[in-house]
Amino acid sequence: MEIQFNNLRQEKGYTGVIFCDQNCRLIGFGKKLDQLSKKHISNIIKGDESFQNRSSKNFDYIVIHQPEKLNLAKLYIFKLKKFKDYSVRDFQILGGHLQTIIKFYKEDKAIIYPDGISSSKVSFISSIGEMALGIKLSSYEFNKYHTKKNQKNKKKHKIKINSAQCNRILKNSVKIEAIAEGVKLTRDLVTEPPNFMTPPKIADNAKALESLGVEVKILGEKEMKKLGMGSLLGVGQGSIHESQLVIMKWNGSKNKKKKPIAFIGKGVSFDTGGVSLKPANGMEEMKYDMGGSAVVIGLMKALAGRKAKVNAIGVVGLVENHIGSKAQRPSDVVKSYSGQTIEVLNTDAEGRLVLADALWYTQEQYKPEFMIDLATLTGAIIVALGDEYAGLFSNNDKLSKQLSDAGEIEDEKLWRLPLNDRYDKMLNSPIADMQNITNGRGPGSITAAQFLQRFVNKVPWAHLDIAGTTWTKKPMPTSPKGATAFGVKLLNRLVYKYYEGK
Ligand code: BES
Ligand code: MN
Ligand code: ZN
Repeated sequence: MEIQFNNLRQEKGYTGVIFCDQNCRLIGFGKKLDQLSKKHISNIIKGDESFQNRSSKNFDYIVIHQPEKLNLAKLYIFKLKKFKDYSVRDFQILGGHLQTIIKFYKEDKAIIYPDGISSSKVSFISSIGEMALGIKLSSYEFNKYHTKKNQKNKKKHKIKINSAQCNRILKNSVKIEAIAEGVKLTRDLVTEPPNFMTPPKIADNAKALESLGVEVKILGEKEMKKLGMGSLLGVGQGSIHESQLVIMKWNGSKNKKKKPIAFIGKGVSFDTGGVSLKPANGMEEMKYDMGGSAVVIGLMKALAGRKAKVNAIGVVGLVENHIGSKAQRPSDVVKSYSGQTIEVLNTDAEGRLVLADALWYTQEQYKPEFMIDLATLTGAIIVALGDEYAGLFSNNDKLSKQLSDAGEIEDEKLWRLPLNDRYDKMLNSPIADMQNITNGRGPGSITAAQFLQRFVNKVPWAHLDIAGTTWTKKPMPTSPKGATAFGVKLLNRLVYKYYEGK
């Protein structure tokens, strides 16, 4: 969805979207239009008792066709409750709702007049930015594999936002556009079918960020073998597609030597489970097992796109976990890049094996200020938290707090779960330094996190288990069904709020 920002004006034949408060008093440009129409608008509102009395719905509206004495062909009047208390997320959701209604009624010539919706919590310029972001994110579509495209769908929708503050809004919109582009890339990568979005193809998509000034390095199997990344390579060895480790570097801080912050993503392009094969039912969902890597790539795109003043590293471990005569077996022992050995008791607990080498490599090569990894790591996190919260595990209270805080702002919520030596012990193996699963039924998400912690070497670190939040089966205010890109907005906010040294 393209958004155009203009000055305050009517445009002939367009549909205008104006607003009133909970007492049905028009605000902003709506007031002005009411004067021009000689109170036609307010008289209609006054005559509509039902609209005045309805108080249950949050985004209630009425429509006026051919409003008198105006150039606009139609008017939508939205009643907003308590907009003076709106948060960042409320503005995103407002944008999402407006977009949904504008699209549903096929209003291809719509102008939103947002002036007057001012909150005490968000600056006007930011609030319009967040609303525009909500419009963009909720309009996401993926239909490249439909051969008989509906002509109507092909038509590109455009929404105009007209405001007296148009110039300042326009300046800020560059940043918003970058975030929207990052989220879109993440969703595209996750939604693409796994026969197309293989590890080398995901790497190509990361490589494309070079056009934005991101440095990209790709390690193939030969290089990783030389380095001794037996843990990651073992997972990919049953696949015809080559495993990859991709490092993206954005050096946007004024101090080019400043320690970078690092984001690491699990990128299992498809998770069959390997020889510990998954059941057929629902296996198709495992195309989104590269969601963590897609978030890291989308985040790097957003940071570079808005020229964030930060030094950031993105590292993604890309493999396909497949069956076949070359696939690793349950009980194989592999040697990780850190030197620690791992007994692979279950080939379906593969994400941790990929991250083990990616994490060790990141801390060793880049000495980051902190590492945050994202992974669709365990089904158990869905049992614990469903699709509302992602699991947060960390060895650092400050980083945890900052992450939870950013998650609240963006409504990408995190819930912290414990780490503890007693859980760690459960990973000890009789024949290697550790095993990749624990015996019996247990706290699966925690022991997976404990496994990762053996590869962070005391660097401040957080692990986000996004298995439940990466994909949604129901539409949400700013995310249609499918890939959510959960994590991109959250981490962008974390960087913006705490790590850009303003
Ligand atoms: N990719 C899965 C986890 C997953 C499950 C993600 C459902 C999204 C939705 C992961 O690789 C996995 O298979 N985990 C196993 C671990 C077990 C073998 C210890 C699991 O959760 O069952
Ligand atoms: Mn698995
Ligand atoms: Zn997996």
